[in-house]
Amino acid sequence: MDVAKEEKTHVGEFQTLLLKLDREQEKELAEGKKEVDELTK
Ligand SMILES: [Fe+2]
Repeated sequence: MDVAKEEKTHVGEFQTLLLKLDREQEKELAEGKKEVDELTK
Protein backbone atom coordinates (compact mmCIF):
# COMPACT_ATOMS: atom_id res chain seq x y z
CA MET A 1 0.00 0.00 0.00
CA ASP A 2 2.95 2.35 0.63
CA VAL A 3 4.18 1.80 -2.94
CA ALA A 4 0.68 2.29 -4.35
CA LYS A 5 0.44 5.59 -2.46
CA GLU A 6 3.83 6.69 -3.82
CA GLU A 7 2.68 5.89 -7.34
CA LYS A 8 -0.34 8.14 -6.88
CA THR A 9 2.09 10.94 -6.03
CA HIS A 10 4.06 10.12 -9.19
CA VAL A 11 0.86 10.45 -11.25
CA GLY A 12 0.35 13.89 -9.70
CA GLU A 13 3.94 14.89 -10.48
CA PHE A 14 3.70 13.74 -14.08
CA GLN A 15 0.31 15.42 -14.58
CA THR A 16 1.64 18.67 -13.11
CA LEU A 17 4.62 18.63 -15.47
CA LEU A 18 2.38 17.95 -18.46
CA LEU A 19 0.09 20.83 -17.51
CA LYS A 20 3.10 23.14 -17.19
CA LEU A 21 5.00 22.05 -20.30
CA ASP A 22 2.47 20.73 -22.82
CA ARG A 23 0.03 23.29 -24.24
CA GLU A 24 -2.36 20.53 -25.36
CA GLN A 25 -2.57 18.82 -22.01
CA GLU A 26 -5.30 20.93 -20.43
CA LYS A 27 -7.60 20.27 -23.40
CA GLU A 28 -6.72 16.56 -23.53
CA LEU A 29 -7.23 16.18 -19.79
CA ALA A 30 -10.74 17.62 -20.17
CA GLU A 31 -11.34 15.33 -23.16
CA GLY A 32 -10.30 12.27 -21.14
CA LYS A 33 -12.51 13.29 -18.24
CA LYS A 34 -15.47 13.67 -20.59
CA GLU A 35 -14.89 10.19 -22.06
CA VAL A 36 -14.65 8.56 -18.64
CA ASP A 37 -17.75 10.44 -17.42
CA GLU A 38 -19.69 9.14 -20.43
CA LEU A 39 -18.44 5.56 -19.94
CA THR A 40 -19.27 5.50 -16.22
CA LYS A 41 -22.58 7.37 -16.06
FE1 LIG B 1 6.15 5.69 -10.20
